[in-house]
Amino acid sequence: MSECKHVAIIMDGNGRWAKSKGYPRTQGHLVGTDNVRNIAIAANDAGIKALTVYAFSTENWKRSKEEVDYLMKLPFVFFKKFIDELMEKNIKITMIGEMSEIPKDTAKVLQKAIDQTSSNTGMVLNFAMNYGSRNEIVRAVNNILNDVKSGKEINVTEENFNDYLYTNNLPEVDLVIRTSGEQRISNFLLWQIAYSELIFTDVPWPEFTPDKFLECLDNFKNRDRRFGGIK
Ligand code: FPP
Repeated sequence: MSECKHVAIIMDGNGRWAKSKGYPRTQGHLVGTDNVRNIAIAANDAGIKALTVYAFSTENWKRSKEEVDYLMKLPFVFFKKFIDELMEKNIKITMIGEMSEIPKDTAKVLQKAIDQTSSNTGMVLNFAMNYGSRNEIVRAVNNILNDVKSGKEINVTEENFNDYLYTNNLPEVDLVIRTSGEQRISNFLLWQIAYSELIFTDVPWPEFTPDKFLECLDNFKNRDRRFGGIK
């Protein structure tokens, strides 16, 4: 039985959940934001070392301006409400994705939380914001080329390629959970999930409770991970 160190979540279904209740889509995102707190606390209490949440993809810019603007406000809402509790729980905030393309005030709020929690030694709560995996891989290749141009001798290996990814300081992703019924990866951590276990649940993100999260961890424990080998 292998330990589950790093869980990554595709938090899907906010819009459909809101619609089913007769609310605007934004209400789904708001309840979903509170749920990031609930699942982060549950994950931390369960001894998970890193939790990566897909908060905004490089494809999400295609949504209406109104919805994009709303999504970019969520870090304000989240950290205003929960930063004290995250500090108490010793949780460290990090971010993966292209920060330079995020509105300046949103980037500032994220950076402030990253700085404030940088000495915390508990679970890493890692926000994928303006994140796309293909973009991350192309960025890594370009950074390698730049290093080579500036005289560095590099023999590219799986290990040192990993150093060029946003996730270089995080443990391997053990488990990916996607809520709300879709069974796809949507450009999320393509390199990192080569050997991850996958769980797709029909429950929409706003209704994905800590108990359901713990059920996923139990399910993971019963998986027979062979990493291509034979036991
Ligand atoms: C997918 O649901 C969800 C998102 C695109 C946004 C997820 C963001 C959060 C839950 C909050 C993030 C919190 C912070 C602090 C940044 P959807 O809108 O695609 O749902 P649908 O498929 O039902 O339309």
